[in-house]
Amino acid sequence: MGACSWRSRTVLALFLSLLFCSTGFAWKVPFRPNDVLPLLPRQVSWPILNRLKSPIDLLPSFVGAVSSSNATVEWKGACFYENTAWMEFKNENGSQWGGGTLHIKTSKAHSWTCMDLYVFATPYRVTWDYYFLAREHTLDIKEWEDEAELEYVKHNGISIFLMESGMLGTLMALWDVLPLFSNTGWGESSNIAFLKKHMGATFEQRPQPWVSNNISINDIHSGDFLAISKIRGRWGGFETLEKWVTGTFAGHTSVCLKDSDGQLWVGESGHENEKGEDIIAIVPWEEWWEFEQTKDDSNPHIALLPLHPDVRAKFNESAAWEYARSMLGKPYGYHNMIFSWIDTIEDNYPPPLDAHLVASVMTMWNKIQPAYAANMWNEALNKRLGTEGLDLPEILVETERQGLSFDKLLTIPEQDDWLYTDGKSTSCVAFVLEMYKQAGLFDQIADSIQVTEFTIKDAYILKFFENDTSRLPQWCNKGDDVKLPFCQILGKYRMELPGYNTLQPYAQMNERCPSLPPEYERSREC
Ligand SMILES: *[C@@H]1O[C@H](CO)[C@@H](O)[C@H](O)[C@H]1NC(C)=O
Ligand SMILES: *[C@@H]1O[C@H](CO)[C@@H](O)[C@H](O)[C@H]1NC(C)=O
Ligand SMILES: *[C@@H]1O[C@H](CO)[C@@H](O)[C@H](O)[C@H]1NC(C)=O
Ligand SMILES: *[C@@H]1O[C@H](CO)[C@@H](O)[C@H](O)[C@H]1NC(C)=O
Ligand SMILES: *[C@@H]1O[C@H](CO)[C@@H](O)[C@H](O)[C@H]1NC(C)=O
Repeated sequence: MGACSWRSRTVLALFLSLLFCSTGFAWKVPFRPNDVLPLLPRQVSWPILNRLKSPIDLLPSFVGAVSSSNATVEWKGACFYENTAWMEFKNENGSQWGGGTLHIKTSKAHSWTCMDLYVFATPYRVTWDYYFLAREHTLDIKEWEDEAELEYVKHNGISIFLMESGMLGTLMALWDVLPLFSNTGWGESSNIAFLKKHMGATFEQRPQPWVSNNISINDIHSGDFLAISKIRGRWGGFETLEKWVTGTFAGHTSVCLKDSDGQLWVGESGHENEKGEDIIAIVPWEEWWEFEQTKDDSNPHIALLPLHPDVRAKFNESAAWEYARSMLGKPYGYHNMIFSWIDTIEDNYPPPLDAHLVASVMTMWNKIQPAYAANMWNEALNKRLGTEGLDLPEILVETERQGLSFDKLLTIPEQDDWLYTDGKSTSCVAFVLEMYKQAGLFDQIADSIQVTEFTIKDAYILKFFENDTSRLPQWCNKGDDVKLPFCQILGKYRMELPGYNTLQPYAQMNERCPSLPPEYERSREC
C-alpha cells in the first residue's frame, strides 16, 4: 500500500488546495478539485463530495472479477484510464488451501494528483487499497479462509470495486472493523478492544467457574429470556457491529419454554441446522446448553433473565407454544435485521457509517452474493417502495423517481404483518418478543407494538424481569463477588446490560428512536 508516499502527498495536496482557494482556478495544468478531496480530512471532504456528486455516483462500481492468471480483466478507472488485473494462486508454505496474489497494473493517469481507490471482496473477506502511481501493484492473500473460499475464487474470482476516491477517509476510519471477523485470538481481542473503545464496555474478568455447572431446570420457567453475546469469529464480528450501531450489550437472544411434562426447551431464531442454514428451532435445553459450552466457537457469554413473577403469571404458555410451533423451521429473519435500528435519518449512524455507506455495502453484496442480498434487503426495500421484484439498482432509481432519498427510504418502519416470499420470518429478538406478544405480556397495547422495531437492548430494558435479587436461583452468579441483577451462566467476562429492566412498554414504542454512541441516549417516548 502506498503508505510512505501518503504523508508527502497530503502536504502537497493541502498546499495546492490553499493555492487553489486563494487564486481561483484559472491555470491549465491537469489538476482537478476532486482529485484532492481524498487527501482532506473526512469532515471537510465529505460535505464537498456530497455537494459535487449525486448519491448514485458515489456508489462503488463493479469493474470485474479476477479468477485466474489467463483471464486478465481490463477497465477504465477514474484516475488511471488503463488498468489490468490477473490472479496468481500460490502455496509457498504448503498450507492446506494456499493463498494468492492479485496483480493490478495501472497506467495513463489523467492528472498527477489523482488516485484510484478500490475495494476487493469475496464473501469471506473485504479489503481495500488505493493507487497513486502508474505501475504494477500487488495484493497478497496469505491464506484462503477455507476450501469454500478457494473454490469461490477459482470459479467467481475476487470482485473489484472502484470507489469514489473521496471515500478514502471513510475506509480509513473503518480500518479497525476489518479484523473483527477473524476467528482467532487476534479476532477476539479486536472485538473486545473495539467494544471498549467505541461503546465503553468494560470486559472485567469474572472469577472461576466461568460455567454454571449446577443449573437446576426447576428454577427456569417459560418466558425466561436468554441474552447471548458472542465475541469471536464471523458471528462475533457481526455481533460487534450490531452492538455498536444499536447500543446493545448482547448480540443474540433465545427464550426458554417448558412443556406440560416439565421438560425445558429453548426457542431460538438463528439456530444453525446441519446444512448450515440459520432457522427457527426449538431444541431441548440439554442439547442447547451442551452445544454452547463445547461446540460454539464464538466464545459465547450467556445470561438468563428470569421474568418477574407477576409477568410470568400473565404468560400464556399454550399461546406461546402455539406461536413457536407455527414458526418452526422458518428462516432466520435477515429481511428486517438492519431496519430495526434505522429509525431516524440523522441519529442512527455512528460516524463514519451513513446511509450512503449502507447503500455501498448493499451494492457490493448484491454483486457478490445476489441470493443473500435479495433475502437480506431487496425484498424489504421493495415493500417500503410499494414495488415488487426490483433489484438494487432499480430500487435506487425508483427511490429517486418517487422523490425519496435513500436514507429516507431506510427509515420507513417495518410492519410485522409484511409477508415475505419465504413466509413470515423473524430475527432472534423479534421471535422472542412476538412470543411475548402472543402470550399476553403486552396486554392491551399489543396491537400498537411492532416487534420488528425492537433491538435486543429495547427488549432487555423492558420492565418485565425479576427485580428482587434474593429471588434469583441459588446457582446464579455463583462464586462472583459482584452481584448482577440477572443470572450469568457462561463466560469469562462479566456481562453488562445497561438500562436492564427499567422501562414499561408503551404504544408505538421504538418507532422513532435515535441511537448514537457512546451514550445511546433515548429520547422520551420515542
Ligand atoms: C491457462 O493457460 C495454460 C496454458 O496456456 C493452460 O494450461 C491452463 O489450463 C490455463 N488455465 C486456466 C485456468 O484456464
Ligand atoms: C511463509 O512462511 C514465512 C516464514 O514463516 C513467512 O514469513 C511468510 O509470510 C509465509 N508466507 C505466506 C504466503 O504465508
Ligand atoms: C451442586 O448441587 C449439589 C446438590 O444440590 C451440591 O451437593 C453440590 O455441592 C453443588 N455443586 C456446586 C459446584 O455448587
Ligand atoms: C391462552 O391461549 C390459548 C391459545 O391461544 C387460549 O385458547 C386461551 O384462552 C388463553 N388463556 C388465557 C387465560 O387467556
Ligand atoms: C419490583 O417491582 C415491583 C412491581 O413492579 C415493585 O412493587 C417492587 O417494589 C420492586 N422491588 C424492588 C426490590 O425494587
